[in-house]
Amino acid sequence: MYTDISPGFFEKAKERFNNVASHMRFQKLDLEFDPCSQGFAEASYDVIVAGNVLHATTDLIQTLQYVKKLLRPGGKLIMGETTNLDNVRDGLVFGLLPGWWLREEQWWSNNEEYQDQGPLLTEEQWARVLPEAGFSGLDMVFRDHEQQPHHRVSILVSSAADEHVENPLFPQEPIKILINPRSGTQNALAKGLQKIIANGIELAVFSEIIEFDTASDIDYRDSTIISLLELDSSLLSKIGESNFETVKRICLDSRLVLWLNSDASPGAGDPEADVAIGFGRTICSERGDQNFINLSLECSTQRLHQCADATLRVLRNASSSLDRVHESEYSEKDGVIQIPRVVPMAYLNDIIVTRSRRPDEQTYVVGDDGPKPCFNLTIETPGLLDTLYYAEQANYHEELKENEVEIEVQATSLNFKDVMIALGQIPGKGFGFDGSGVISRTRPGSKFSVGDRVMYCTSAGGGFGTFVQCSEFQTEKIPATMPFDVAAAIPAVYCTAVYSLDHIARLKQGESILIHAGAGGVGQAAIQLAKIRGAKVFVTVGNESKRQLLKETYGLTDSQIFYSRNNTFAEDIRNATDGRGVDVVLNSLAGELLQETWDCIAPFGRFVDIGKADIIANNVLPMGPFDRNVTFSAVDLVVVHEQAKPLMKTIMQDVLRLFEKHPHVHEPKPLHVFAPSRIEEAMRYLQGGKNTGKVVVDFTLSSDELKVGNLNTCLA
Ligand SMILES: NC(=O)c1ccc[n+]([C@@H]2O[C@H](COP(=O)([O-])OP(=O)(O)OC[C@H]3O[C@@H](n4cnc5c(N)ncnc54)[C@H](OP(=O)(O)O)[C@@H]3O)[C@@H](O)[C@H]2O)c1
Repeated sequence: MYTDISPGFFEKAKERFNNVASHMRFQKLDLEFDPCSQGFAEASYDVIVAGNVLHATTDLIQTLQYVKKLLRPGGKLIMGETTNLDNVRDGLVFGLLPGWWLREEQWWSNNEEYQDQGPLLTEEQWARVLPEAGFSGLDMVFRDHEQQPHHRVSILVSSAADEHVENPLFPQEPIKILINPRSGTQNALAKGLQKIIANGIELAVFSEIIEFDTASDIDYRDSTIISLLELDSSLLSKIGESNFETVKRICLDSRLVLWLNSDASPGAGDPEADVAIGFGRTICSERGDQNFINLSLECSTQRLHQCADATLRVLRNASSSLDRVHESEYSEKDGVIQIPRVVPMAYLNDIIVTRSRRPDEQTYVVGDDGPKPCFNLTIETPGLLDTLYYAEQANYHEELKENEVEIEVQATSLNFKDVMIALGQIPGKGFGFDGSGVISRTRPGSKFSVGDRVMYCTSAGGGFGTFVQCSEFQTEKIPATMPFDVAAAIPAVYCTAVYSLDHIARLKQGESILIHAGAGGVGQAAIQLAKIRGAKVFVTVGNESKRQLLKETYGLTDSQIFYSRNNTFAEDIRNATDGRGVDVVLNSLAGELLQETWDCIAPFGRFVDIGKADIIANNVLPMGPFDRNVTFSAVDLVVVHEQAKPLMKTIMQDVLRLFEKHPHVHEPKPLHVFAPSRIEEAMRYLQGGKNTGKVVVDFTLSSDELKVGNLNTCLA
């Protein structure tokens, strides 16, 4: 449940939480009034999170009481509150608003301690105020900074005090303790329990011992049962039909069954005792509640007191959590009540990994003599990077299509798009969209010959492997001196930069340009191109080492480099351009930061979006900046690949001409070269967003061992 005093924020909140909004409810709540009169149910929340809001009401204690009213007994209130009152920032800013001065309750104005103080409270004051509203005080406090001058906000955790409520689980009905009269242990424990129950203050009920032989004649409706029947040995695993009918009726008619057994706990030895666990789970699901509770005890005549104590503790817990989801399986060990939980078991994981390995999987060692197999990268489960694997390309024997060439891959670049596909964030099956290699197959009449050194840029993927097929429009020869890993780092990022800056924005000498993610692959290509075109370059980066890289590699100064992860760059751009903005933007930011960037556009400016996140989400663009005769364009190389093949050829040729004419132009730096067997690691590196330069996978690193599925066909 997401609340606010006005529904005005709900649309924004739904956008922000769009992944989970379908599971959320949004409802107006004014904490000046009783929430129950506003459609909220009393005692219905386990946790309430209040971010810098509770102080802003006329009567703080009343507000806290309203919050407490919504919490279940023991429920948690988690508040984010500004608690360092020496920090004048909040008072200075929010003190200008009438809402800051709402507080008017008596205790506040009459109490000297709070005189001359705005609505904010220190941690000590919260600790005093919370109990007055029925909370526990401060259970936990987390500060944003350890040192007082830097500390501003605290996260405060408090619990709704668990007031005594009449427990309908234990009405006037006596608790029925079921035993086998022939068992000494059961008799002794039953008597011990009876004594403790009789003295028990909070249960305040009586108990009676019922022998199982006579149990079929009793009415169990509304009863609470403690069964000791399985303390000596399993009853359920060999129970006869009539006894089973009795047990069934007890379990279905009663309010609560606490079923004790001596050996049904995880790790305990007797599998027959586990029948009680399965039986209990079945009863719980058939009844639709959790009112069959298993408790496994180490029960012996020497431990009767501990067993009785453990039994009562579990019963107490069940009674206090009536109407709530509570645990239904416990075990007692050395006086400690434990709850069985699933934990990772390393050796079982290993067995599963071994067994689930593809039976046809073989090892291919790069550089081995003999025919080279034809395979490329695929993923079994998008979203799980550890399911990436190499698989044989079934169709590689097929004839090449018109204008197609086959390239024996030497190196392939890893792009953010590959990571997004692997993570299941965008659809697609292929990986590896640009790289370098040697022509291995052509069609008659091709302008390429087998053995030509080339770079390629494709929209179909297939580059992470031994061979890739692509169109001649997407392939260009590279200079003899250009290493393959360098050539692989160039096509996609330079094609994007050349197409965006030269073809779309037509960046001119003396103009200014803002390039987001300047230290990334496209960013560095764009910086170099913009400098060649004589433009004044501004960039954004996400951290200090990226800033340093751009200063050292491209001679940019601090006055040209701004921060990419919040909107401060917008103000910085306006300051750096006397409020005019920039002529060209190469944008890869999304959402609010895209809009801030859009506002930075100068008259006659050209905004080129390559990030596409807002385009895919079909978001709205404010029209105001169009008043300045500006243009908003989007660039997607895939569209060029698919709908303007000759244009792709032109762009690739432009890129190679750029390198030819300007020998100082280079690939994005540094070049991070990974072996194909470390592809998952390479993807995780890019996923982290701390990458600089370009990531390339080198398929010529000899002795690299690759696991390849379905490897049975080879290419000579
Ligand atoms: N439309 C097209 O045809 C086309 C073609 C190629 C690339 N692109 C897009 O252009 C952008 C840059 O591409 P690239 O090849 O230069 O990528 P890159 O080298 O991996 O750089 C991506 C940069 O994005 C920034 N970033 C911001 N938020 C991030 C996050 N949550 N996770 C990871 N990185 C984040 C990081 O820079 P900071 O830390 O400096 O902010 C990161 O270094 C990407 O969005 C890519 O999808 C589009």
